Amino acid sequence: MATIKIFDTSLRDGEQSPGFSMTLGQKLRVARALAELKVDIIEAGFPAASPGDFEAVKAVATEVQGATIAALCRTVPRDIERAAKALAPAASSRIHTFIATSPIHRQQKLNMNRDEVLKAAVAGVQLAKSFMDDVEFSAEDGIRTERDYLAEVLQAVIEAGATTVNIPDTVGYSTPQEMTELFAWLRDTVPGIDNVTMSTHCHDDLGLAVANSLAAVEGGARQIECTLNGIGERAGNCALEEVVMALRTRADRYGHETRIDTRKLHNASHLLAAVTGNFVPRNKAVVGENAFAHESGIHQHGVLANRETYEIMKPEDVGVLNSQLVLGKHSGKAAVIDRAKDMGFELEAGEIDDVMRRFKELADRKKRVFDSDLEAIITGNQAHTAGPWALQWLSVVSRVSGEEDPTASLTLAHENGDTATQTGEGDGPVDAIVKALESITGMDIVVLNLAMRSISLGEDAQGEATMRALVDGVQYSGNGLSTDIVAACAEALLEIVNRASRHAERLAERGEPDDESPEPLVAAGLRPQRQSNAA
Ligand code: KIV
Ligand code: ZN
Repeated sequence: MATIKIFDTSLRDGEQSPGFSMTLGQKLRVARALAELKVDIIEAGFPAASPGDFEAVKAVATEVQGATIAALCRTVPRDIERAAKALAPAASSRIHTFIATSPIHRQQKLNMNRDEVLKAAVAGVQLAKSFMDDVEFSAEDGIRTERDYLAEVLQAVIEAGATTVNIPDTVGYSTPQEMTELFAWLRDTVPGIDNVTMSTHCHDDLGLAVANSLAAVEGGARQIECTLNGIGERAGNCALEEVVMALRTRADRYGHETRIDTRKLHNASHLLAAVTGNFVPRNKAVVGENAFAHESGIHQHGVLANRETYEIMKPEDVGVLNSQLVLGKHSGKAAVIDRAKDMGFELEAGEIDDVMRRFKELADRKKRVFDSDLEAIITGNQAHTAGPWALQWLSVVSRVSGEEDPTASLTLAHENGDTATQTGEGDGPVDAIVKALESITGMDIVVLNLAMRSISLGEDAQGEATMRALVDGVQYSGNGLSTDIVAACAEALLEIVNRASRHAERLAERGEPDDESPEPLVAAGLRPQRQSNAA
């Protein structure tokens, strides 16, 4: 039995995809959740992409313990030096350097021949090795690379000192059988490969990323690169929670284990969803709301007789509690902290007061507070960006018929002590709130997307609003939680306004990100930190 290393790239491959960008504070939150989950390696970003990415990798390297912190870089010297610098504070670090090896990438993207790519790969690994021992090399688009050439490149980088060699399915093209065959062939062919870790990195364009990663393990891979909720470029990457639970549930077939504390999977997945403003789909394997729900009579009957009739995993093994909390307004701090602990949340000293305040507000409005309510409060609180503006008062008039437009009046308090009240008129109540916020802040807000969901059951259930909006042309996301859905929308909008304000402050402090990269990042398959997606 081998221990398969779990290499999480939510903060790099995941974060670079549209709609999933995170602020530095949010990245730190997610990185801490990943460390609690006991992932072996956290890929914290791509430091050469922008000063923001550099700072984020450095912050994770400084503050997150318990996992190796990795940084991605092309094989060019400036990238490698930036990665080494950002990683310097980490107790355990890894430089992950890559270059594309497939014919289409060599010819169309890099304009380099086989020999040039091989030399760049070796030089990159050698330079990385001068900074640290733990060096990973990725042959980008390795799956579509000629086998003999792929073997030659891997042999050369192993000789240059790479300790992990990754063969990515960059475009999600492979099938499980091909993966097993390729990895087994490399294992039997490449001299020295037994002394390093073979790694798989699969994209989900054909929905095969998890199956392909498991197949690579059958061929000899001992590291899986994956992301929470399967986020990542295009259709995403191999989903961490799925591949880990597949290895665990089907240990009879795979015969391997991971170090992951699976009881933290549910919370880590939902934290990432709250932070990025992307709900976990109900039917998502392992972490979706329906993953352990049994609706039909036949299924319910079976589960009552013996839950293994329809459940192959125990809900508690992935952090889903069977019982439903019924706390009320008389429940004290100790009861709430205890319950949060049972649910897998270790509340930090700084967040207990906020969570208690929101809990009390909710318990005043709602008879019973369920686990799902508390989870939404905690993850919402963790994902929340504290901003300069706070909502003091809100009054909304919605009209179904008649001549007049809906109106919203609101008062905001600024951290500098100012308060401002404005009334907006719009096509609907949310539009009216937008107009009032625009009058107060002077920002131009265009709502792109609004999703609502009910957090628990009953007519007094909390609603969660997740919103994405352009503020002065830059995209942000925000979440709001309330028993009143219009108030939840106002909270989500306020969070967006706060993120935009903080972002403007940071830009003013640091100036515009520079990018002196010799090879365009876009051509390398990686976007620079997008000014247009800074949520
Ligand atoms: O998909 C890919 O090839 C990558 C590499 C940079 C590892 O993300
Ligand atoms: Zn990738």
